[in-house]
Amino acid sequence: MGKTPFNLTNRAGFPMIDSMQNITSKPVGSPRILAIANQKGGVGKTTTAVNLATALAAVGKKVLLIDLDPQGNASTGLGVKRSGMAYSAYDLFFEDDAFRASVQPTKVPGLSIVPSSMHLAGAEIELVTAEMRESRLKSALSNASGFDYVLMDCPPSLSLITLNAFVAADAVLVPLQCEFYALEGLSQLVKTIERVKGKFNPALEIQGLVLTMVDRRNNLSGAVEADVRGHFGDKVYKTIIPRNVRLSEAPSYGLPAIVYDMKCVGSKAYINLAKEVIRREREHVRKAA
Ligand SMILES: Nc1ncnc2c1ncn2[C@@H]1O[C@H](COP(=O)(O)OP(=O)(O)O)[C@@H](O)[C@H]1O
Ligand SMILES: [Mg+2]
Repeated sequence: MGKTPFNLTNRAGFPMIDSMQNITSKPVGSPRILAIANQKGGVGKTTTAVNLATALAAVGKKVLLIDLDPQGNASTGLGVKRSGMAYSAYDLFFEDDAFRASVQPTKVPGLSIVPSSMHLAGAEIELVTAEMRESRLKSALSNASGFDYVLMDCPPSLSLITLNAFVAADAVLVPLQCEFYALEGLSQLVKTIERVKGKFNPALEIQGLVLTMVDRRNNLSGAVEADVRGHFGDKVYKTIIPRNVRLSEAPSYGLPAIVYDMKCVGSKAYINLAKEVIRREREHVRKAA
């Protein structure tokens, strides 16, 4: 278990509060809603969703994580048992007024979750013939006041569930695995975001792209990073997430890495990413004012 004891009942136990306390995001009314998406599997979406959500909660934000992947890795990674739940993310699409009932607390103070269920796999098919099929999640999230941030962990596809996430979102955060094929498929993702922007959600933007599983000892990593930064410039967060075994161990304990071992390089990187995300949010609010 973690090298450092982590007092889950006491926010003051979070070490990053000191370094983050001067950073504030917009005052809260309705939450900022971020979709964490990339249609490729295994690029670090869930790891990013869980640890970013935890880091934001650690600085006093009220955070909701919605697990939209039928595989439910974000739910199990936060120690939430998926059996025996009355409501899940599935119900957000099909059950009016399911929002409040589907929100559950987690062991992390300030972080709630709407867990996934296997039914979500069927939701794709059910949505095809449903009315307002692209905006059902958006309607459900109109009840999400009281949260500062809603993070949505998307499935590895550009399916109707991901489309619903883009229609409901203020912005998209794209994890990119730092490998030779990092940019492959990205144009399709960007086109989908543009299409949603044009048709359903004019304010949608890419909050940023984050390079994950970076191995600085590997020459290719540097070349890929340069390539991605060359394509997307400032949209790429300065923070990179290194390859770090603690990040991949933590979910088996049902804990975010930031709780499991807050001093490991992976946790520190996610804390820095949270700072950047909050800064970008603050910038967004300043521009909108
Ligand atoms: N920075 C990292 N270092 C080491 N392992 C990682 C890192 N990020 C993710 N992983 C591991 O890689 C696998 C895929 O990551 P995951 O976040 O589940 O991706 P996705 O949600 O995009 O499918 C998981 O086993 C996860 O624990
Ligand atoms: Mg995932």
